[in-house]
Amino acid sequence: MPYYRVTGEIPRKRHVRFRRPDGGLYAEELMGEEGFTSDSSLLYHAHPPTAIVKSEGLDDAAGAGAVPNHPLLPRHFRTQELPAGGDLVLGRQLLMANDDVRISFAAADAASELYRNSTGDEAIYLRNGAARFESVYGSIDASAGDYVVVPRGTIHRWLPSPGDRLHALVIEARGHIRPPRRYLSASGQFLEHAPYCERDLRGPGGPLLADGEDVPVIVRNRGGLTRLSYAFHPFDVVGWDGYLYPYAFNIGDFEPIVKRTHAPPPVHQTFEGPNFVICSFCPRPLDFDPEAVPIPYNHHNVDSDEMMYYVAGDYSARKGSGVGLGSITLHPSGFTHGPQPGAVDAVIRGLAEGRTTTDETAVMIDTFRPLLLGPASRRAEDPEYAWSWARAARA
Ligand SMILES: [Fe+2]
Repeated sequence: MPYYRVTGEIPRKRHVRFRRPDGGLYAEELMGEEGFTSDSSLLYHAHPPTAIVKSEGLDDAAGAGAVPNHPLLPRHFRTQELPAGGDLVLGRQLLMANDDVRISFAAADAASELYRNSTGDEAIYLRNGAARFESVYGSIDASAGDYVVVPRGTIHRWLPSPGDRLHALVIEARGHIRPPRRYLSASGQFLEHAPYCERDLRGPGGPLLADGEDVPVIVRNRGGLTRLSYAFHPFDVVGWDGYLYPYAFNIGDFEPIVKRTHAPPPVHQTFEGPNFVICSFCPRPLDFDPEAVPIPYNHHNVDSDEMMYYVAGDYSARKGSGVGLGSITLHPSGFTHGPQPGAVDAVIRGLAEGRTTTDETAVMIDTFRPLLLGPASRRAEDPEYAWSWARAARA
């Protein structure tokens, strides 16, 4: 995270005696990245965070069954048709994955168990619904349009608002998810040309304290899922400080960068991960040169697979393709993609009639290694999508 925060009670100096009201010592814990050489936070627990009493292996059905995109095709998945129910941790339905990132969909309506992902950071994008995210750092109220970035190793749980169903895109990195480096000063402050800044990020509220003994926590590591039981409830932190903590950022707070002629997706970049980027396409003025072609040109990013999640508004470039709200497309390396034939003319006609803005909202992930297809993508696939460009061109 880019800046320092402090919450609750902490001692005046690091690594000194800090006593509970009963005279005992609080248990200090460092959560730190890259082996003591990058961002970290110090948390002060009422009980030792090391005290475990049981460990059970769990089946990880959601993690199995990803296959290559073969024969090679552009794909369209209708998440609207995937089963609903379950929680935001064990209810994840794997859409795509490679060695750098796993991308899942969840339509969750139940509270999750406590959970820690020790394989990397997560970014959860909520398309709709509202939830309370509770963690050892405190809680964050999240709602539609929020990305919630959860650092690796954070013990947390998701509590949907009563009666709500969350539609969420779950991005699990094999490393860290951060704001793009080019938008930060040498000391980590957002620069003036960044499309968002510190004021747009919502960190956890005050300390979150809970009682309990023999409390189970689901832990994901490279070996799969384990349920570890802790002697004391992990939510026993009276204070913490540092640069490492979960936070929320709402896609509506992304300030679009526009050009006179069409700007490429890096202007929409919101986060970077290991060998992938996350971009936010937000409502904005259309490209405003009188001769501009105001939607994307055909393109082939030879190093990338591109996943796009259509979350709100009207995505002009995909008109006539069958893509709708809640759809996900995958345009893999090896395939040149672009607007559906006729889409450019339609937008130019719209400009002449005064429609000079776009209300589309979409979340895009570009990976730099090919994505395998998970079981949920095969279940939700629209088999006609691959031929939609040819169908329109021949009509
Ligand atoms: Fe693209």
